[in-house]
Amino acid sequence: MLREVLEGLRIESDGLYVDGTFGGGGHSQAILEQLGVNGRVIGCDADAVAVARAKEIFSTESRLQIRHGYFSDICREFAQENLELSGVLLDLGVSSRQLDSDQIGLSYRESMPLDMRFNRESRTESAADIINDYSTEDLATLFRQFGEEPAAWTIAQAISARRVRGRVQTTGDLRQTIEGVIPGRFIIKTLSRVFQALRIAVNDELGELERGLDCFIKQLKVGGRIVVLTYHSLEDRIVKTKFREAERGCECPPGLPECQCGKQRRLRSTPRKPLRPTAEEVRANPRARSAKLRIGEKVAEEGSR
Ligand SMILES: C[S@@+](CC[C@H](N)C(=O)[O-])C[C@H]1O[C@@H](n2cnc3c(N)ncnc32)[C@H](O)[C@@H]1O
Repeated sequence: MLREVLEGLRIESDGLYVDGTFGGGGHSQAILEQLGVNGRVIGCDADAVAVARAKEIFSTESRLQIRHGYFSDICREFAQENLELSGVLLDLGVSSRQLDSDQIGLSYRESMPLDMRFNRESRTESAADIINDYSTEDLATLFRQFGEEPAAWTIAQAISARRVRGRVQTTGDLRQTIEGVIPGRFIIKTLSRVFQALRIAVNDELGELERGLDCFIKQLKVGGRIVVLTYHSLEDRIVKTKFREAERGCECPPGLPECQCGKQRRLRSTPRKPLRPTAEEVRANPRARSAKLRIGEKVAEEGSR
């Protein structure tokens, strides 16, 4: 959905843009191509490998600055630096390089150490810690809440039983345990949901998104745009809710001579409904199947009436 992302950002040639999820830098590159000499992009990624590669590949691009960390933390730096942003892009989730990386351990196709942290400096708990230390009840809740997994309880019980034989160390150990209780025809979808749930928990992805959206909407200048690409309903629900919150104006009871609550409509969703990839795009890139793109435009200064 590159064209929609770029149109959504409505790029000004001398603007300041944030790519909160830099990855391989494809989106940042496309933004840079539309910027003039005074335009700037700040690319952020929590993954140290993505950051090191970005610094190497884009070493001659003076309009690009790379920052390492979770985007909500980096946005707090922007607030301290009083940066006014022309646009923000969040392309959530993981890159295909990360899915294949045995350093992160996200794949159930190959056996890898069960870790899943994008950033080991700021997250202490790995997926293996969760699988080995959580109670059966807490595991089931996690698979239900973050994976929307119907067999959450069965899987949690199987993991508890497996732990009696020693720690679950690898993605292969976890896969085998799940394969022991889930019929073959459901296995791929189940593994995807369980692995997604663990990745979301380990990286606090939903909390990150909530804090990031609050902060980025504040830091946008009037007329600036925030563009968010999500890949599952839990993420999209958060974006929709945060946009709606920022779209709401005065909430005083009707009949008051003037507003007492001070709430101001700060954002406008444009369009109102999320954009979806075309059938052609999904054929070319099956990962785009569940993508939803939401675009918000800042319509008023923070705290103005
Ligand atoms: C789907 S990829 C982005 C791909 C990128 N748009 C491109 O064109 O190559 C998501 C990237 O965002 C990073 N990421 C995910 N959540 C993050 C967060 N909360 N803060 C910073 N980086 C994050 C991941 O490490 C990954 O590299």
